[in-house]
Amino acid sequence: MKAEGIALVTGASRGIGRAVSLELARRGFEVVATMRRPEAGEGLPAEAKREGGRLHVEALDVNDPESIRIPDGIRVLVNNAGVEGPYLPVEHAPMSVWREMFETNFFGLLEVTRRALPKLRQSGGGVVCNLTTASLLVPMPFFAAYRASKAAVSALGESLRTELAPFGIRLVEVLPGAIDTDMFAGSKRPPEALGFEPYRPQAERVQATREPMRDVFTPSPVAAAAIVDSILDDQGPLRHACDPMGAGLLTGWRQSSDEEAMQGMLNLFAPPSDDA
Ligand SMILES: NC(=O)c1ccc[n+]([C@@H]2O[C@H](COP(=O)([O-])OP(=O)(O)OC[C@H]3O[C@@H](n4cnc5c(N)ncnc54)[C@H](OP(=O)(O)O)[C@@H]3O)[C@@H](O)[C@H]2O)c1
Repeated sequence: MKAEGIALVTGASRGIGRAVSLELARRGFEVVATMRRPEAGEGLPAEAKREGGRLHVEALDVNDPESIRIPDGIRVLVNNAGVEGPYLPVEHAPMSVWREMFETNFFGLLEVTRRALPKLRQSGGGVVCNLTTASLLVPMPFFAAYRASKAAVSALGESLRTELAPFGIRLVEVLPGAIDTDMFAGSKRPPEALGFEPYRPQAERVQATREPMRDVFTPSPVAAAAIVDSILDDQGPLRHACDPMGAGLLTGWRQSSDEEAMQGMLNLFAPPSDDA
């Protein structure tokens, strides 16, 4: 597609959403950078303008339907807003954790998307870009709530990819690996599962496996450029990476069966005991 018309981004106050908003403006879109607290985006329009781009900030909380306003002329929707939560064994993760995660990551995204679809159709087509996670490709213990909320987005996206094709609306899923944002910095903490005795040895293995990856990450402007490339690529696949870690995991996932991937995780985190 040509980089013209309106692009709306959710969760543009910081991180990937902020970088994608600036990159879309740089490429030629008129950007509506939405966020819960518009004051967080005070400097954004001027930053875009310095590079010849057009961007304005609007309030939008994906969990507050009243705040969702979709502009006429929208061509691109980037569903970026997201939250993660504690890394707990499923039996110890309270239902409130699951509900909070699904509320923002899935139901919030769904509400914004269903409101945007009639306007995208009126515009003659466009792109919906959903940010999920490369952790979907790695069935790591203690990540179930976050992964499940993103898997729901992934399944929604698969159906929308076919459902919307007749209207010239292309669904794109981007699976970030490790992008240098607040969320990534927060994810480096020891897993909360360490506090639950029967799971402690496994939680220690998870921590040890993640340790070498702590310092491997991609700056958000680099990831944003790859995300906008995916949005513009009319011939591209459904799923895209935006960083080397995500690209490696996506390639490995495409080349192996689901059972091979699961067996790899079982060997890593739940090896058969000697006396089994
Ligand atoms: N960074 C990574 O390595 C990585 C890896 C895999 C997937 N991802 C995904 O990429 C997306 C962006 O992540 P990030 O790393 O940039 O995260 P981040 O730095 O934590 O930023 C999250 C953004 O989402 C916004 N947000 C949260 N709840 C919202 C709500 N109810 N309504 C509107 N906005 C809301 C936040 O707004 P406030 O400022 O108001 O809190 C913030 O702008 C997320 O969907 C995340 O799951 C990131």
